[in-house]
Amino acid sequence: MILDVVSIFPDYLAPLDLSLIGKARRDGLIDLRVHDLRDFTHDRHHSVDDTPYGGGAGMVMKPQPWAEALAHVVASGAGGARPRLIVPGPGGVPFTQALARELAEEPWLAFACGRYEGIDERVYEYAAQDLGLQVSVVSLGDYVLNGGEVAVLAMVEAVARLLPGVIGNAESLVEESHEDGLLEYPVYTKPASWESSAGVTRAVPPVLLSGDHGAIAAWRHQQRLERTAARRPDLLHSSAALTVDDLAITSARPADAAELTTLQRACWVGEARANDTHDIPPLLESVDEVARGLQEWQTWVVRAGGRLVGSVRARSHPDHPAVWQIGRLMVAPDLQGRGLGRALLAHAEAQAPSGTAAYWLNTGTRSERNLRTYRKAGYRVQPGEGTFAGTVDLLKRRR
Ligand SMILES: C[S@@+](CC[C@H](N)C(=O)[O-])C[C@H]1O[C@@H](n2cnc3c(N)ncnc32)[C@H](O)[C@@H]1O
Repeated sequence: MILDVVSIFPDYLAPLDLSLIGKARRDGLIDLRVHDLRDFTHDRHHSVDDTPYGGGAGMVMKPQPWAEALAHVVASGAGGARPRLIVPGPGGVPFTQALARELAEEPWLAFACGRYEGIDERVYEYAAQDLGLQVSVVSLGDYVLNGGEVAVLAMVEAVARLLPGVIGNAESLVEESHEDGLLEYPVYTKPASWESSAGVTRAVPPVLLSGDHGAIAAWRHQQRLERTAARRPDLLHSSAALTVDDLAITSARPADAAELTTLQRACWVGEARANDTHDIPPLLESVDEVARGLQEWQTWVVRAGGRLVGSVRARSHPDHPAVWQIGRLMVAPDLQGRGLGRALLAHAEAQAPSGTAAYWLNTGTRSERNLRTYRKAGYRVQPGEGTFAGTVDLLKRRR
């Protein structure tokens, strides 16, 4: 990924040479270029600001240096490539994990660090209209900083750590706060019993030492809910109030693989119980295997408040192209029973190519809930064992 940052304090960006982001730069995963706005001035004092029209306190950044700096950045792109321009500002859209994921998909980002009272508004128009850039004003939070540099440090770190190869263990990204709409559970390390200098002994919650992974997962989930309710009730609200009308079904992106892995594990635990087996691919697949599935199937996802809450995938049967295979229909356990699954199934059916004669599904022989849903949607169980051991196939003729 290419990152260009324009600032009057280029040294402010020096921390991006440290730690994992610095290593990613040295490994060639990130090409970060920092430009001094004052290099694009033409007066003796290298001035970048002037008094505001209409009066008022403070200074405003002049359009000319910004226009030249941005044109310089754009001119470095080969073959007509253009960066997406991010302008940090307290009046922008909030910077969230969902936006970080969106930006991590971009091949090239440019950041314009404002100072003083901000940048002359005509620079935004120039960037969009004359340079043809997608311009996004993005806020780090509801407070005012002195300049955009701190915001850029935060945004670059949040985006870059999502790029493949930047964090050693990609699975460590899966359960973090904000990845699925909840805050992370409390974490502990050795010793199991720790005595502070005041002589107070504090023990790690016993369940974490039990070795019972089901109990640990349940405890952690409960902690996430309690912590989110206590600190960020606004996050719980967006999922709790979700209805089928709020659905926006979009194509899955490679960056969704980690969240999809978590969601499918959560969704297929019930299947494992109902069918008395854990030998079910959606429960066992790694993030890499899920990512490979995204290349082999068309996959769609639904998000609520940034959290991935549902998905389905489909493709033409490799040996029978008139059959449209639908699979991995999943809805987060806390949001089932609201029609999201039916809407996802209808969406997958609607994407079938014109030569399709029938839709195909497969589910566990004892997955009563799935079988009920599929029968209601017009699918009929086919005689005999399904494509996989312990499963049945279902078909529905296309009208
Ligand atoms: C003092 S601020 C300008 C604030 C502006 N007059 C206003 O009230 O919206 C100077 C610069 O700091 C940056 N900045 C300040 N607060 C920010 C925030 N919450 N998020 C992102 N950038 C911020 C922006 O680059 C902004 O142009």
